[in-house]
Amino acid sequence: MKVLLINGSPRKSGNCARLLTEAQKVFETEGIEVVRYDIGAKDIRGCMACGGCAKKGSCVVGDDVPMLAEVLASADGMIVASPVYYASPNGSVVSLLDRLFMSANCDLRMKVGASFAVARRAGTVASFDVLNKYYTINQMPIASGRYWNNGFGRAPGEVEGDEEGIQNARFVARNMLFLMRSIALGKEKYGLPEAEAVTRTNFIR
Ligand SMILES: Cc1cc2nc3c(=O)[nH]c(=O)nc-3n(C[C@H](O)[C@H](O)[C@H](O)COP(=O)(O)O)c2cc1C
Repeated sequence: MKVLLINGSPRKSGNCARLLTEAQKVFETEGIEVVRYDIGAKDIRGCMACGGCAKKGSCVVGDDVPMLAEVLASADGMIVASPVYYASPNGSVVSLLDRLFMSANCDLRMKVGASFAVARRAGTVASFDVLNKYYTINQMPIASGRYWNNGFGRAPGEVEGDEEGIQNARFVARNMLFLMRSIALGKEKYGLPEAEAVTRTNFIR
């Protein structure tokens, strides 16, 4: 089994990284392969709505998104951790996720998603909501925590003082592991949910 962990912060050793590390420890103890990706200071541009991915089968922008789409294709789940910037996930992570999910040329059904939002003070709930929608509109069940999937801190490492947030990262990882394993068994026994040709209804006629 494999999980993709995305640190959306430009700070490789910041507070988002700390929560992901706590989850990573759980996965590695259980023998789960972890692919960890840091956005860091990488130049991840937004989606150009060019439609190139529909023709090519992967994002046409030459950065890390096509590579991440390949990792996601073979992963059983993913966690995204984002810092809160002005009450939203930061711009880089939104750009990355927009393009990753628009261009992912794989079956996302029943891959398990989870997310963490980290802030100094406020905006975590709104950010958490944004992050989870990438999963809920793609037939991806969400692994929940025991309480809010937040971490609080400003300077790198300050989240260490948020013991509840760090503990919750372990709960999320364990719940995610349980779901991934259960889904693997369920796939063997029942197969994936039936897929239909997708109907797209625009609101302007
Ligand atoms: C541009 C910018 C905007 C921010 N906006 C908020 C905010 O709206 N609410 C908040 O509580 N913290 C805000 N912060 C603080 C970060 O969320 C906080 O430092 C967090 O720990 C960063 O996570 P990291 O260490 O993983 O980068 C902001 C920080 C930056 C750089």
